[in-house]
Amino acid sequence: MIQIKEISAQETFPVRLEVLRKNIALPYEFNGDFNSETFHLGAFKDDELIAVSSYMKTGNSNFEGNQYQLRGMATLTEYQGSGVGKLMLQQAFLILKERNTKVLWCNARIAAVNFYLKQGFKTFGEKFDILPVGAHYVMFKELN
Ligand SMILES: CC(C)(COP(=O)(O)OP(=O)(O)OC[C@H]1O[C@@H](n2cnc3c(N)ncnc32)[C@H](O)[C@@H]1OP(=O)(O)O)[C@@H](O)C(=O)NCCC(=O)NCCS
Repeated sequence: MIQIKEISAQETFPVRLEVLRKNIALPYEFNGDFNSETFHLGAFKDDELIAVSSYMKTGNSNFEGNQYQLRGMATLTEYQGSGVGKLMLQQAFLILKERNTKVLWCNARIAAVNFYLKQGFKTFGEKFDILPVGAHYVMFKELN
């Protein structure tokens, strides 16, 4: 049974490191991790943290209204495709709606674009590079 809970920034770091920063020399701590409006979600299988995601009140000038940015979306490899990423996002949508958020946006790695499309996100604009990770799209989901 999977449970989605709010967790601290520090709790996200091991999963971020393992899934998002292997062989990638970028920080696993993000600007805004400790801002008071930021929240972090974790998916637990029994007592094991198997997926994390972070939500920061960062505006993107391409969108209007209250916005949050999704960052550090990561599920441990052995649990990918088992529905936990989707569960975390569904919980986030509820929290963000309570906070009157109009748009949730992210810089999506190419390999994750189809995952986000399935969760109701759309791509915005052209593909761009974030070195050394590779190609990304801005993606967004309108809430409400
Ligand atoms: C992308 C990622 C966060 C998705 O999380 P997840 O827990 O594996 O996703 P879920 O199991 O909830 O998947 C929900 C649906 O999306 C599909 N899906 C998941 N990852 C996918 C992918 N990369 N491409 C296409 N479809 C994908 C699942 O098959 C599932 O489909 P269904 O609802 O028809 O059964 C996860 O695979 C991951 O950590 N990948 C590596 C790191 C990464 O790329 N993070 C995103 C950075 S922007």
